[in-house]
Amino acid sequence: MYAVNIEPHVVGPKGSVLENLIDVDEHYVAEMRDRALVLAEDPLRCQSLPHMTLAGWDLLELLMEQQALGYPEHFTLTRDGDKWRWINRPLGIDDSFTFGDVSTLPYGPMEYITRQSQGDFCILDQRDGNLWMDAGMVTTQADWSLDFDIGMNFFEWHAPVPLAHEKGIFTRALKFLTNIQQGKPARRLNWTMTINPRLDTSPENYHKWGPDRATVTPENVGDKVHLRVELQSFWRLPRSNGIVFPIRCYLIKMDELVTQPKWARRLHRVIRDLPEELANYKGLTRYRATLVEWLSKLDNGSPTSPGF
Ligand code: HEM
Repeated sequence: MYAVNIEPHVVGPKGSVLENLIDVDEHYVAEMRDRALVLAEDPLRCQSLPHMTLAGWDLLELLMEQQALGYPEHFTLTRDGDKWRWINRPLGIDDSFTFGDVSTLPYGPMEYITRQSQGDFCILDQRDGNLWMDAGMVTTQADWSLDFDIGMNFFEWHAPVPLAHEKGIFTRALKFLTNIQQGKPARRLNWTMTINPRLDTSPENYHKWGPDRATVTPENVGDKVHLRVELQSFWRLPRSNGIVFPIRCYLIKMDELVTQPKWARRLHRVIRDLPEELANYKGLTRYRATLVEWLSKLDNGSPTSPGF
């Protein structure tokens, strides 16, 4: 069931996705190429309303700092006043530019840095006690559209989510988010499922991935069905007072997931007992019974420890 599952975004164990606050992993180059291909086909995956350019610079600073801090072997940022130099070794980039001067970069600041950062990014403007989706780079989303949502507020873009509005979840979450302070990011996890390890499951490309849901059989569940976990974080931006919302997507196929028996048991119980509204919203309905049957064979009924 949905909850306001938000906690401080602090570093975690070495070797985990939380070792650094902005995670860069072995899929970096492939994901950046994938993003470039999606953008070439559909430039509206990246949009920034005119008042959001300053927030774009804030984001550029945040991502350059965090990536250089976490991965100095791959990224280097040097600054002399507003003269900045950015080296990105995996992508072969070495650019010098003037911070704040759009004419010194090949793209706007948000597009420039998010073409070099894994995960999707929404930048929210804060005004009238609400958050407004006024900019973003969204190429790896779980069936929602930036082009549709651009300019909407927190309640409007969350309108399709079942059961959570009635429980007051979005009212409480918004209260929390509008009070986030600079230097104190927060995070939450969200999950859904995807057939085949496909990052771009957008409404725009529904015709490419939607039919895959009808291809799941008892024989191919382990290979085709993936748990899709989103690590979402929330950061106050210093100059614009906006909030940036990075969404990192991690996919694991069932065959790999069930190598941990307690994960198999837990997932079986979650998918089996999920309220129908959530299963429909997450798009599981077509293959849910096949998946539950497959997972049930790995659940010996033993009690699980708290959290499992
Ligand atoms: C779903 C954006 C923060 C809870 C979504 C969707 C979007 C979105 C675009 C998909 C809606 C659709 O079906 O079209 C954002 C942005 C946030 C944010 C930009 C940052 C400001 C939060 C927070 C919560 C939350 C703080 C905390 C409770 C949810 C839930 C769903 C959802 C429960 C449904 C996910 C699922 O079942 O797979 N969000 N969200 N969101 N959001 Fe948020």
